[in-house]
Amino acid sequence: MSGEGQKGVLLVSKIREGTVIDHIPAGRALVVLKILGITGNEGFRVAVVMNVDSVRMKKKDIVKLEGYYPRIEDLMKVSLVAPEATINIIKDYNVVEKRKVEIPKVVEGVLRCPNPTCISRKPGEPISSRFLLVSGSPLRLKCHYCGTEIGENDVIGQLVGGGRS
Ligand code: CTP
Ligand code: ZN
Repeated sequence: MSGEGQKGVLLVSKIREGTVIDHIPAGRALVVLKILGITGNEGFRVAVVMNVDSVRMKKKDIVKLEGYYPRIEDLMKVSLVAPEATINIIKDYNVVEKRKVEIPKVVEGVLRCPNPTCISRKPGEPISSRFLLVSGSPLRLKCHYCGTEIGENDVIGQLVGGGRS
């Protein structure tokens, strides 16, 4: 039985086709939706469950997306804010694929270096940003060009604020 409710009671029903993103850090479901670009105006059903009990994480969030399948590049961004997330692909009510997101060793073109003199920020310079993973927990990324390090809050701020390299 999945851990979204106590004593086997589901808080939201199972979905027929689509994606369940499970094991999101508690309180971060809306950040994940924002990263996926989902506003709720798309027309498909979205269920957001926040702060439910989890054996592994104590508390967690879950997002269920009916008829929606995320792109690989979006899952890479999700890994930065929800490194424990499990992506469950649902077909005909069954979990047909389950995999964990993975923080990439190199994050290219997604985040902006906070150093205003960094070469990756020079106007007219055809260099996109490039960050190297220093540590996953707590999240630390280091600019390949100038060495500036950024942490989880910078990353969330940029991904939610729509910052581009
Ligand atoms: N789920 C769903 N609709 C389905 C099938 C599964 O919404 N048709 C949800 C479950 O409620 C759960 C998640 O997808 O939140 C993963 O389902 P499942 O693998 O059955 O649960 P667990 O075994 O608890 O998952 P894990 O081992 O990853 O913790
Ligand atoms: Zn830099």
